[in-house]
Amino acid sequence: MATTEFDLGKIDELIASEEATLEPKHRESIAYREVANRHVAGGVASSWQDSPPHAIFIDRGQGSRIWDIDGNEYIDFHLGYGAMVVGHAHPLIVEAIKRAAERGTHFAQPTKDLDVIGENLSDRFKVPLWRFANSGTEATLEAIRLMRANTGRDMIVKIEGSYHGHHDSIMFSVAPNRSEIGPREHPVTVPQAMGTPQAFADLVRVVPFNDLAEAKRAFEENPGKIAGLIVEPAMMNAGVILPEPGYLQGLKDLCHANGALLAFDEVKTGGTLTYGGAVEAFGVVPDVICLAKAIGGGTPCGAIGSTEELYGPVIRGDYDMAGTFNGNPLTMAASRATLIDVLTPDVYEHFNRIDKVMKDGLSSVVEKYEMPCYVTGLGAKGSVIYSEQPVREYRDAVGIDERISYLAWLFQQNRGVFKSPWTKQETWTLSVAHTEDDAQRYIANFEEFAAAVTS
Ligand SMILES: Cc1ncc(COP(=O)(O)O)c(C=O)c1O
Repeated sequence: MATTEFDLGKIDELIASEEATLEPKHRESIAYREVANRHVAGGVASSWQDSPPHAIFIDRGQGSRIWDIDGNEYIDFHLGYGAMVVGHAHPLIVEAIKRAAERGTHFAQPTKDLDVIGENLSDRFKVPLWRFANSGTEATLEAIRLMRANTGRDMIVKIEGSYHGHHDSIMFSVAPNRSEIGPREHPVTVPQAMGTPQAFADLVRVVPFNDLAEAKRAFEENPGKIAGLIVEPAMMNAGVILPEPGYLQGLKDLCHANGALLAFDEVKTGGTLTYGGAVEAFGVVPDVICLAKAIGGGTPCGAIGSTEELYGPVIRGDYDMAGTFNGNPLTMAASRATLIDVLTPDVYEHFNRIDKVMKDGLSSVVEKYEMPCYVTGLGAKGSVIYSEQPVREYRDAVGIDERISYLAWLFQQNRGVFKSPWTKQETWTLSVAHTEDDAQRYIANFEEFAAAVTS
């Protein structure tokens, strides 16, 4: 069966009825947005907090639960785009932040958390040196600049359908429409935001995921020009797409054979897939690693890992890798507690246990209702992909009708499960606080969705 075999007429009807159920539950959110709208553009803090049907304003969180300003309680599988694998308001992290705040919230001078955090990250990700930043965007910005600084080249290769943050060097071909992507051998470098100069697009060559031959073509067509390739080792913004065996090592070999560098964007995979992120899961150590989200226990965070050689220009002072808030004491305190005390090796056994419950339960629903979709993921990350054929790259996912994931989102939302925005086939994330019962709720809701769409 293909996606087209979902009855889209029925899905439209179900969407209308689920939206009608949802709207009255969010009266406060809808009203407050109008208030915020008076002095905040669009009434939200970030464009991606405005996912249809309407922005939902959150009051508080505790463990695996959050409450919106209307008082609705949810089990949270969104977890702030995967940053909150520690669960909400974890006592050790609350205590660490409180203690740090009482001693002063910012100095723009280094503090004595650096060695412990750096050592832990090196133990996990197998590169020796780190610097800190305040977001995934800053981490990939510095990773790209580090690759350019060390090679003296300007071009970057990126994977179609991956998001690496909102800076001008890389915010291309994130979620392009089918009509604009061009041929697979030469994908169009499509800006994700207006106002991005064409000069930046000219420096970005886009290639499909899981295809070494196409990556090779990019290098062959641009001899001596490519500084490096940045890849999410497992793609997370078009559902979860895992790398095929040998792909990541092949990229590393290809980059090195061409005098270029390989960066892993582990902003979503770091701290979630395994103790050592994608490096451990897939056994490949890249030249540069970008981290953010999960490593900061919910504070604005980022980290860039690399070798002594590649950090040479920074250490010598030829390259200012700077930021007023880099190494901020609140972030450092939260990161230290997160990495040392909360995301300990045994936590990944917990993620694997709940992941198995999720995968077994959802897969048996898919089988029972003969739905054209499958379940995938690793560790704390997973997703249902609404395609019967395995999705290996963005182009396999771009044809999937978004109404299906929207309806699945509505079913969960109306039944007490907060999922990440449906627009990008978003993944679920598990936290240390999630239980098998939480997973069973997700599965039961999914079964109601399955029964409705197939009846
Ligand atoms: C893989 C990846 N890289 C980078 C980023 C950017 O991180 P931030 O939103 O913290 O700037 C994101 C954000 O979702 C991401 O998913």
